Amino acid sequence: MSKNAREKQKQMAAKAAASYIRDKMTLGIGTGSTVYYLIKEIGALGTAGINVRAVVTSESSRELAISCGIPVCLPEEVDHIDLAIDGVDEIDSSFYAVKGGGGALLREKIVAYKADDVIWIMDESKLVERLGRFPLPAEVLPFAYTWAAERIEELGGKARLRERNGKIYGTDNGNYILDVTFSPGITYHMAADKIRQIPEVLETGYFNPVCSRIIVGTEWGAKEIVNQRQSRKRPETEADGTDDVEV
Ligand code: A5P
Repeated sequence: MSKNAREKQKQMAAKAAASYIRDKMTLGIGTGSTVYYLIKEIGALGTAGINVRAVVTSESSRELAISCGIPVCLPEEVDHIDLAIDGVDEIDSSFYAVKGGGGALLREKIVAYKADDVIWIMDESKLVERLGRFPLPAEVLPFAYTWAAERIEELGGKARLRERNGKIYGTDNGNYILDVTFSPGITYHMAADKIRQIPEVLETGYFNPVCSRIIVGTEWGAKEIVNQRQSRKRPETEADGTDDVEV
């Protein structure tokens, strides 16, 4: 898929997700290149008189949200989140997902678990039969991170410290990321729980199926796939021009 086609798909998914936003909602806003389009859409909704406030999952999303005129709140300033919308790095047909390519996995998980409803948005390349193409990110404390990496290796994984521009990548929480790959036969499902039990590990990017639906941008438009097990009440009318598939 060309870069342009992929960007178009992200944009379509973000636009369809924005149709779930209602006036006065408290939103959870994720992080990443798909969420970039979502934030632009939310900004446009504000101009059209639909006013929301948001808890954001990263400093980059905060900056963009503020520049689009979206009021940003701290978690301690809100008692609930109506709807969280975020991207994924890969997702299987049972809605298990890997997130954290943008390094915001810990705040993303916190916000997703707080929200009444969660929608994940993506281009088609994110749909996989089996998780594992994308390394599993784990946010670790800088203190003793090498010990965490050693422990992960004992569990059959290979941990690579994330770097950016030749320097150790630091999360917005001041931590490091280990990107973990596994030998064949070890599933993320099996590994994530064990990795979380390592004391230096704060969280992994393995997400349970917490979304009520996913919205996938395709060549033809936005396709929505409902997660029946997490289905929440959709506010008011259905989004126009999208196909709902229930699984
Ligand atoms: C951020 O840490 C991630 O979880 C993103 O949500 C995920 O990487 C998707 O990002 P893109 O929309 O940029 O692919």
